[in-house]
Amino acid sequence: MGFKKDFLWGGATAANQYEGYPFADGAALATGDIMTNGSHTVRRQVTWKMEDGTIGTTPLCFGSQERHLPEGAIPTYVDDPKYYYPSHIASDGYHFYKDDIKLMAEMGFKSYRFSTKWSRVYPDPYSDTPNEGGLNYYINVCKECKKYGIEPLITLHHYETPLIFAQECNGWEDRKLVNLFVKYATTMFEALKGLCKYYLTFNEINLIEAAPYVAGGLIHATDQAIASAAFNQFLANSLTVKAAKEGYPDIQVGMMLAYGPTYGLTPDPEDQLLAKQMEDSTLFFADVQMTGKYSVYKLAEYDRKGIVLPAKDGDLDIIAKYTNDFLSFSCYGSHVVTYHTEGTTAGGGNGMKFGMVANPYLKANAWGWATDPQCLRIALNTFNNRYHCPLWCVENGIGWNDAFEDGTVHDTYRMDYLKANIQSMKDAVTIDGIDLMGYLYWGCIDIVSNGEGEMAKRYGEVYVDADNLGKGTFKRTPKDSFYWYQKAIKSNGEDLD
Ligand code: BG6
Repeated sequence: MGFKKDFLWGGATAANQYEGYPFADGAALATGDIMTNGSHTVRRQVTWKMEDGTIGTTPLCFGSQERHLPEGAIPTYVDDPKYYYPSHIASDGYHFYKDDIKLMAEMGFKSYRFSTKWSRVYPDPYSDTPNEGGLNYYINVCKECKKYGIEPLITLHHYETPLIFAQECNGWEDRKLVNLFVKYATTMFEALKGLCKYYLTFNEINLIEAAPYVAGGLIHATDQAIASAAFNQFLANSLTVKAAKEGYPDIQVGMMLAYGPTYGLTPDPEDQLLAKQMEDSTLFFADVQMTGKYSVYKLAEYDRKGIVLPAKDGDLDIIAKYTNDFLSFSCYGSHVVTYHTEGTTAGGGNGMKFGMVANPYLKANAWGWATDPQCLRIALNTFNNRYHCPLWCVENGIGWNDAFEDGTVHDTYRMDYLKANIQSMKDAVTIDGIDLMGYLYWGCIDIVSNGEGEMAKRYGEVYVDADNLGKGTFKRTPKDSFYWYQKAIKSNGEDLD
């Protein structure tokens, strides 16, 4: 027994990392469009202005502990060459999507996950009329997929809240976003009727705690504001599921969790407890969206911190009734935590939490992300045992500073990564009997990295000729891994050599 016949092999991108041109066709900016470029050592910054014209920047990004803009600062796009915003050019998917989808088809993709940008579809989120230009772009992307028999999977909110909400009301802390989001989601369902049947509401919803600006547009992220924003996203998610069930019965709406198994470094029970607590703090988000209930340990934590759920009458019933159809997740590797930090090196890449150290058994890339050959098998077993629901891995991949030589990239490290990860997932399917819907490789076409805002951290099986400052021809070239993945897909995961 191997992968099922209709296994959804493919790849994934996100609007702010791929499309570029956030002003095109009457669109408006989102929170990701005012984040500057950075690197492994230089944090991305959010640019802002004061009423008196003072301009400044604050690192409200992954890996930063910063949670607030200065009092009175309004997050803003600053038209000054001093600031480079990578999402404004990205991989120029806005103009290259046809070439890219053709390459995906050549690789044998059965599915392509991309995100739609709320502020492209509704530059004025209060309006009842969507922006035709923005909407048409997504209709065309779906039509192009269908031309090749590729099933689109749309993420409705991938780290992009319309900027106006960050400026006006601290983003998702404000409940008014709930109904406005459901209007946008329903617009997409209607416009893409017959073209797209799989949707995800919020990308990596749990990372609102590690990066509240990125995941929720919060410019003042107190613990209370984060809990309220998470609540509002849960409610928006359930109301979106409700809208699909009532009006579009063919549509399935999944949840999306960022997950990496957490290991305790030592057999010290304190380390094991820490690891368990970290796992639970991640799984809490899936508990709500897949079972409809807030986990007791999270409610106890809120109590201890004096956090109040902003639930109104009937809200919790909606969350309980409209749970998601499937669980999708990203998984890049695992985490190690310990109280015994002597002799260890800090590890974990972005979104580091207390006590995270490098795993002495694993090799990390230049950004500190370690490859764990067992992570997908562990992830799938964890989800299967806890939620007994359909599962879909929608992000997994490795970033590398690829060398372009002899007219291509000889990325053996990426093929090794793919081989180990697909094998791990295959073991979960064939040995543990898990029913898996599909596997989507992250950043299949080179895109700008989210954490660092640089092109140098490339994930793709297709090379894009562009540098960290958006300069280049944007020509697409298949890397060696393109042909490896093509062969793996053709054999439905049997040929991994
Ligand atoms: C996931 C995000 O967390 O990780 C993607 O959903 C992101 O948007 C991916 O690109 C890899 O992270 P990075 O920082 O290497 O781009």
